Amino acid sequence: MTGSGRILRLALFGLTPILCLGAEMTAHAGTRIETKSFGKTRAGESVELFTLSRAGAPRVAITNLGGYVVSIEALDRAGRTADVTLGYAGLPGYLGDSSYFGCLVGRYANRIGKAAFTLDGKRYALSANDGPNTLHGGPTGFCRRVWTAKVKAEKDGDALELTYVSRDGEEGYPGTLTATVVYSLREDGGLVIDYSATTDAPTVLNLTNHAYFNLAGEGEGTILDHELQLEAEAFTPVDATLIPRGELRPVAGTPFDFRQPLAIGARIDAADEQIKFGRGYDHNFVVRGTPGTLRLAARVADRKSGRQLEVLTTQPGVQFYTGNFLDGKTLGKTGRPYLKRGAFCLETQHYPDSPNQPAFPSAVLRPGQVYRQTTVYRLSVAK
Ligand code: GLA
Repeated sequence: MTGSGRILRLALFGLTPILCLGAEMTAHAGTRIETKSFGKTRAGESVELFTLSRAGAPRVAITNLGGYVVSIEALDRAGRTADVTLGYAGLPGYLGDSSYFGCLVGRYANRIGKAAFTLDGKRYALSANDGPNTLHGGPTGFCRRVWTAKVKAEKDGDALELTYVSRDGEEGYPGTLTATVVYSLREDGGLVIDYSATTDAPTVLNLTNHAYFNLAGEGEGTILDHELQLEAEAFTPVDATLIPRGELRPVAGTPFDFRQPLAIGARIDAADEQIKFGRGYDHNFVVRGTPGTLRLAARVADRKSGRQLEVLTTQPGVQFYTGNFLDGKTLGKTGRPYLKRGAFCLETQHYPDSPNQPAFPSAVLRPGQVYRQTTVYRLSVAK
């Protein structure tokens, strides 16, 4: 380093305390983020745990391994806190996770039929990791990657920015894709997830967060008595391998009608072919309103605790999944078994298999375009 370089560095160091003071003052007004080590991956990469706190909002911990939401501590009617999202006691659990407990799923969340798609006349082969299909980006999707993390000081306090650059050909997908996800907290209790992405060659893209919720607290039995309201007139029925058939089917008169609040368990074992294929609910719903505008997709209430979750999104669809593959063998953060239907997921998304379904909203991203989506998980106490 040159002499003047050294002086410049010293001068900058000299300024640091003043800059920090300024940043802290902003952070006090809104969200604050604390950073600590979460351990190391098997390859020796350091992973951090970021804790976001803000008055009036749940405390949320997130790691840059896969962007997992590690915990969401939400108040109940009596002012007691519980962690309402499923996960593990520490990093080793997340490294071995096969349930996607709260991670950022990509490059294509949900399924692509027969693990292949054609784009601009060229066929791309993916890895089949769910019977004949590819699921959640393939065996080494975005959940398994260490994302670059940055705590950004914004007007409204700190926000956590995670970036992952997926190389051309990774898991079979074309184009170098740069994905950025910003997590922040809103004053009204909302956990905001802002997604953006660009590519250097045409590709397909579907990003989501796969948080599992139990509003009574993680490990507190099943969610069958939680009441769900879904802002959807239609869903996309599937075949036996959970690939949409291309049809949008009205929910009216089916066990998929949640236009009025109803217990999740009310019809979860109905004698219905779609319910049988999903072993319960594991289906994409068409969110009412205009994709691209942030609108309510779902509201779930646990009458016992008084906790309520609202899901708002710009995405065209939402996968409602009722933890049908959980079997009590996974022990959660406090050692309690995660039972079948011990949680629900509302994964905001493009419809499954869109790359092979010309009638579905397009999931293609081209160079020069910017992919943008926002989802808000808002926790509150029902009046
Ligand atoms: C999604 C899928 C389910 C299941 C879970 C993860 O919700 O639709 O079928 O794969 O992820 O276990």
